[in-house]
Amino acid sequence: MTILSPLTVAPGKADYLDYVNDSVIETKWLEEKFGAIAITEYDKPLIHHNLKDKPELKKDEVLIRNKVVGLNPIDWKSKKYRFAIYHFPWINGRESSGTIVQQGDKKSDLLGKNVFIASTSYRDNRTSTFQEYSVMNRNLVWELPESFTLENGATLGVGLVTAGVLITDSLGLSLQSSYGIEVFVIWGGSTVVGIYAAQLAKFLGFKVISISSLDTQSYLLNEIGVDKVVNRKKSFKDIKEDVYIYLKDLGLEGTGIKYAIDCVSKETSLQLIDLLIDSRNKSADKAEFVGVVAKPKDIESVKVRDLTIKKFHEDIEYGKKLVRETSKLLQDGKIKPVRHKLYSGGLEEIVIALNDLEVKGASAEKYVVKIV
Ligand SMILES: NC(=O)c1ccc[n+]([C@@H]2O[C@H](COP(=O)([O-])OP(=O)(O)OC[C@H]3O[C@@H](n4cnc5c(N)ncnc54)[C@H](OP(=O)(O)O)[C@@H]3O)[C@@H](O)[C@H]2O)c1
Repeated sequence: MTILSPLTVAPGKADYLDYVNDSVIETKWLEEKFGAIAITEYDKPLIHHNLKDKPELKKDEVLIRNKVVGLNPIDWKSKKYRFAIYHFPWINGRESSGTIVQQGDKKSDLLGKNVFIASTSYRDNRTSTFQEYSVMNRNLVWELPESFTLENGATLGVGLVTAGVLITDSLGLSLQSSYGIEVFVIWGGSTVVGIYAAQLAKFLGFKVISISSLDTQSYLLNEIGVDKVVNRKKSFKDIKEDVYIYLKDLGLEGTGIKYAIDCVSKETSLQLIDLLIDSRNKSADKAEFVGVVAKPKDIESVKVRDLTIKKFHEDIEYGKKLVRETSKLLQDGKIKPVRHKLYSGGLEEIVIALNDLEVKGASAEKYVVKIV
């Protein structure tokens, strides 16, 4: 008989986990429905909606009891600007941490494990996280490192996958290698994606320049480990000048920037490409660029790479490798969770936190909501 510690249950849903024995976990779906924060119409407020159908698990899938969910800008933008919503009721939410409570293969090896997830299958509402339970392929869940809280875990999903895919797939760099002194520039260095990309780039041996406001400078330099922060609020001419002075200090004037990513907008992407071209005028090979928000077209002198984060779930072997490699980096302390702003109080708190994210914005932090 295997005894797992009791799992926390949602208010009003006692006895979800009835018992665990050697090979089976029994679940009882009280009233045969479970809660979600759903979009029922574009013009109506988000509501706490009870879904009738328990998600069906395929053999290679697991069911996760979400405990802390992370928020992303797309979670409020998609409703407001009416995109990436394919039916009603619709559930957003792309990341969470929680506990595995059921396996599609009816085995029990993963039951009770604390994990975090990133949902890149935007059309499959079973994988969305603004709900009590989410479904995920068993190969695409990260076991929560022992030193991480569930709140830490909820900051990781989307930022880590986006940064991981852009480094290993878009730029084709290996997390098993170390690279020589080259410069890696991140416009939007204090976005969550930028913070995880900076940590991966540092791990690979690059000098990292983050272009961001000075409000987050000390966090980026002292806790995330970037090498240089350039004030994004200066004129573009002065931003360029600051970058070139740093390259000169490194002895890399004219050859310096090899990789650059933009996490902000089409406009800043074009400025970054301009900076990239000028900075590399003495180098024979082209610099490489990835736009997280927009992909500029027809740029001759820079290699503009695609970013396809759905590769994470469409190519399971690739996703599995990314989970394995980044798990090791998290365990070894090479990647730290981004700092977070915590909301507590159940599923409904997601609505309040989303509104704050829209109105106040995030500053080098992830909004997370404790729902259990
Ligand atoms: N393509 C994809 O698959 C994919 C995946 C994930 C995210 N995204 C997109 O990537 C973007 C970033 O997402 P996120 O969640 O990482 O963002 P986030 O953390 O919410 O970004 C907030 C940060 O943006 C910074 N910022 C705002 N305007 C800026 C500017 N003009 N220059 C530099 N920094 C600026 C602010 O930093 P300071 O004020 O401190 O400088 C703030 O800290 C979003 O648009 C998101 O939708 C795309």
